[in-house]
Amino acid sequence: MEKQEVIISDSIGKSVGDAVGAVEHDRLFVLTDETTLRLCWPLVKDVPCMAQASVICIPPTDENKSLASLTHVWTELQRGGATRHSLMVNLGGGMVTDLGGFAASTFKRGISYVNVPTTLLSMVDASVGGKTGINFGGLKNEIGVFNCARSVILDAVFLRTSDMPGILSGYAEMLKHGLISNVENWAELLNFDFQKIDYRHLTQMVGKSVAIKERIVDEDPLEHGIRKALNLGHTAGHALESLALAEERTVLHGYAVAWGLVCELYLSAKRLNFPKDKLHQTLRFVKEHYGTFAIDCKEYDRLYDYMTHDKKNTAGRINFTLLADIGDIRINQAAGKEEIMDMLDFFRES
Ligand code: GLY
Repeated sequence: MEKQEVIISDSIGKSVGDAVGAVEHDRLFVLTDETTLRLCWPLVKDVPCMAQASVICIPPTDENKSLASLTHVWTELQRGGATRHSLMVNLGGGMVTDLGGFAASTFKRGISYVNVPTTLLSMVDASVGGKTGINFGGLKNEIGVFNCARSVILDAVFLRTSDMPGILSGYAEMLKHGLISNVENWAELLNFDFQKIDYRHLTQMVGKSVAIKERIVDEDPLEHGIRKALNLGHTAGHALESLALAEERTVLHGYAVAWGLVCELYLSAKRLNFPKDKLHQTLRFVKEHYGTFAIDCKEYDRLYDYMTHDKKNTAGRINFTLLADIGDIRINQAAGKEEIMDMLDFFRES
């Protein structure tokens, strides 16, 4: 898989112009969603290269990361005369960059695409590393391919359009990157002041966070091994997210990841002696910023069942990514039902 160029931008117009100009193309398409069209498209629409662009718009939010939206994008590409030499710019959050990346990767067996993530979550995770896809059959990211964007533009200008829950949702993935890297990064993340956001500092931290992800993806682009480190917090997190969805208690992905990190650090402490003080410091941070998610013992079997659907599982075992310490990653940690129930007890009680 060819690697994307990551551009840390402080001038979005110039960065978009340069990134589009760097890829030879006959026609240019911009994919976005209705919310991003209103909030973020005005920040790039006057860039000269955009004058000839055809804009394709899909409805926002994850339930529209669907075959129906994908069909709409393919149809609009076809109607707009896209060829194998056309270029697509995905402007939006993870839903747009995932679906747009998949649409581009499959249209005429693949056209080039550039990601312009507009949420913190898509900046630090979805837009980088080549995972593309859609939800299908009730399961998230069930259909997709690995294929990197030509470039990814990270610009904090978009974060000013984001609300605090949106920032915190992305920040949970940054916390994950801190935990799998080193104590300095983790401590810097725990000390960030959300009362008075310093966007310059946040941009630097985003750059660091993406570099951690890139290093891991470079080593294992197709997730046969160490890339599973990026799933820390996600086995439990996805189960909590699925439960929330089923019970119509809407939670943002990053909140579920933050709670999942607490669960999996507890499991790490039990199995691998992850330091208890670091578990409790992380727990305090998560409680302060993400609150708690109430679960009942009656829901444990359901949560366990959701975990059995995790893509990392092998031969019927639920595999976690755990830590023996910050930066000391252990992948493929199969846990039994009793340990998982104990983990859920800890989460419920904390
Ligand atoms: N979101 C995890 C990964 O890209 O591998």
